[in-house]
Amino acid sequence: MTETLSDIYDFPTDRGDTPLDPPAELFDRPPLSRLQYPDGDTGWLVTSHSLARAVLADPRFSSRAEFRKSPIRVIPDPQPAKPGMFIALDPPDHGRYRKLLTGQFTVRRMNQLIPRIEEITAAHVESMRQAGPPVDLVQAFALPIPSLVICELLGVPATDRAYFQRESANLLRLDSPPEEARRAFEDLESYLLGLVVSKHGQPGDDMLSGLVADGELTDEEVANMGLLLLIAGHETTANMLGLGTFTLLTNPDQLTALRSDPSLAENAVEELLRFLTIVHFGAARTALEDVELDGRLIKAGDPVSIHLPAANRDPMRFVDPERLNLAGTPAGHVAFGHGIHQCLGQQLARIEMRIGFTALLREFPTLRLAVDPDDVPLRDDMAIFGVHKLPVAW
Ligand code: HEM
Repeated sequence: MTETLSDIYDFPTDRGDTPLDPPAELFDRPPLSRLQYPDGDTGWLVTSHSLARAVLADPRFSSRAEFRKSPIRVIPDPQPAKPGMFIALDPPDHGRYRKLLTGQFTVRRMNQLIPRIEEITAAHVESMRQAGPPVDLVQAFALPIPSLVICELLGVPATDRAYFQRESANLLRLDSPPEEARRAFEDLESYLLGLVVSKHGQPGDDMLSGLVADGELTDEEVANMGLLLLIAGHETTANMLGLGTFTLLTNPDQLTALRSDPSLAENAVEELLRFLTIVHFGAARTALEDVELDGRLIKAGDPVSIHLPAANRDPMRFVDPERLNLAGTPAGHVAFGHGIHQCLGQQLARIEMRIGFTALLREFPTLRLAVDPDDVPLRDDMAIFGVHKLPVAW
């Protein structure tokens, strides 16, 4: 196919008047289109569900950090991944690390975490009640809960949790200067290394201790895995809690349905994942060799952005994809990705969301926005979509 300039599109970010929907212009493009990144480099954009899955399952597309192109700034900057940061590695390294961590995400550990997540959630509900309305749900609920759950997972001692939460917040605050985020990254890196070293002498019933006991990895590799869990698991879950609550409060019929039938919670979580798809610039891959896809030639070295939100609204795959239907069956969405890199923490994220939304709606039966929905600041310029603030009252 001969390419003309009009075939090359920018990365769309404008959500127009319907901020919970991906940019409308995405649906006017072919499912595989040429893309120009903000720095002028060109690559490809995938928007259909079937092609998204095809690329994510194809070993000819690499996840390596040093190749990755993103339409926005990411921390840390692209460079070869540190040993253990397997989200940005390809086989065989990826599989070796992932297998060891999968061995730590046991059903037993997840079941043990449930009562702790319930306690952590209840404590934050209580603090909200004591503070009295209005409160910012992001600061009071959505951000601290996943951070404390990761502390539980990694075995961060109670005395270090305030530090850990503060530095994680600094790392994730992408509106601060890049040096500040990088400093927080390095700080947490050395903190985690110290924590791993301490697990040799004082093992606990946590993931880092489990990885140390396996004896397969260096302390640095274990620490980097801890950092990966923090980066991959904190901001994502926090924004699903914040944006999910905003979505429920601005869709009264769906909110009423969930309030009157709490057994819908699991389904609601799944549908919110599909509908909101907060990894909204998608997954990034790079062709390792020439690949023919959908009648076009992706050349070796070309970057490919897989637009997960567009794939999750694909009318060829979902019935009425633009409608939020908490009672529907949104099976097969790609909000957690697909293929060998599919989210390792998805069960934990689901548990946190189910417990979080259920507690909020049960404990605050009159929960509502404390501001006009148009005044809720959205994170449309951040790697993870969500709300910066969510003032609520009850
Ligand atoms: C990978 C989404 C929560 C750990 C991924 C990927 C997505 C994703 C889309 C694939 C990235 C790619 O293919 O390049 C989400 C969402 C979450 C969430 C939407 C919350 C709602 C978590 C949690 C943890 C976690 C709670 C752990 C505590 C990971 C890890 C990977 C990953 C380790 C890398 C897997 C690999 O490369 O093999 N996540 N995630 N995530 N996620 Fe999550």
